[in-house]
Amino acid sequence: MATLVVGARGHVGGAVLTGLLAAGEVVRASSRAPQPGDFPEGVEVVRADLTDPASWPEVLTGMRKVFLYAHPETATEFTAVARDAGVEHVVLLSSSSVLLPDAASNPIAQRHIAVERALDEIGLARTFVRPGYFATNTLRWRSIRTERVLRTAFPDATSSPVHERDIADVAVRALLDDTHRQDAHAVLGAGPVTQREQVAAIAEALGEPVRVDEVDVDTYRAELLAELPVPLVERLLQSRGSVPSLPADLATDAVPEMLGRPALTFAEWARDHATDFR
Ligand SMILES: NC(=O)c1ccc[n+]([C@@H]2O[C@H](COP(=O)([O-])OP(=O)(O)OC[C@H]3O[C@@H](n4cnc5c(N)ncnc54)[C@H](OP(=O)(O)O)[C@@H]3O)[C@@H](O)[C@H]2O)c1
Repeated sequence: MATLVVGARGHVGGAVLTGLLAAGEVVRASSRAPQPGDFPEGVEVVRADLTDPASWPEVLTGMRKVFLYAHPETATEFTAVARDAGVEHVVLLSSSSVLLPDAASNPIAQRHIAVERALDEIGLARTFVRPGYFATNTLRWRSIRTERVLRTAFPDATSSPVHERDIADVAVRALLDDTHRQDAHAVLGAGPVTQREQVAAIAEALGEPVRVDEVDVDTYRAELLAELPVPLVERLLQSRGSVPSLPADLATDAVPEMLGRPALTFAEWARDHATDFR
């Protein structure tokens, strides 16, 4: 019996696939449009689309476990088909936003809560992996690649960016170790860094200078709106660019607890992604 990794070309899905292969697991990788050369040799690759129920039964047949991205529109139907196909355990990539006091009015939290609920209602064993703000969000800073500059209204705004490998390592541990069934694990990153410090880490990884140019809030809003939905932009502006960490009484980081090592730092992430900024 094997594990299906949905979205195996994604940042987290890809790292989950790598982790399972390193552990010697039998893995089936899915993508909506798999291309030759996307995956390591020997990996079974299938086409699956969470919006296309006709694509599900075949990819789920023979699978004991599933790594899943949150797609609330079809979560109940997908989970039921998975259960009927004999899947025993789903590890869901959820979000730490579900833990926020204002989760009821937070659209991102609501999308993830809907999928968590669907899994619980269908009654499949499940583990929720709930990461905070992804370090890969920084890949939106395209001007670093093209002009070696970040234009921001809030250079001293802080976040605790999470390396996708931390998220994947927690997910892989949950897939391999059945004692994590019914658990929920927050993955919270190595600690606050400012935008300026992130730019410095990327510059260090590139071995080239990168400038930070301060712009007014309206210019910054316009740049954000080119990339992000309005509610998210408004939240970011309200917090003056910062992404607050979860209070310690709401969640602790699963990385040290489950993996016995510290969370990866933004500097490590920047080194792993230097080529993305070249
Ligand atoms: N960004 C954050 O700060 C943050 C924080 C907390 C949680 N999250 C969660 O993490 C997710 C992003 O993870 P990531 O960075 O790994 O994303 P990513 O790199 O964009 O990968 C997303 C994967 O999902 C697959 N996918 C998209 N639509 C699909 C569909 N309809 N059916 C099947 N597969 C589909 C894509 O595969 P193909 O294109 O190959 O089909 C892709 O591999 C968010 O959507 C959110 O749920 C994000």
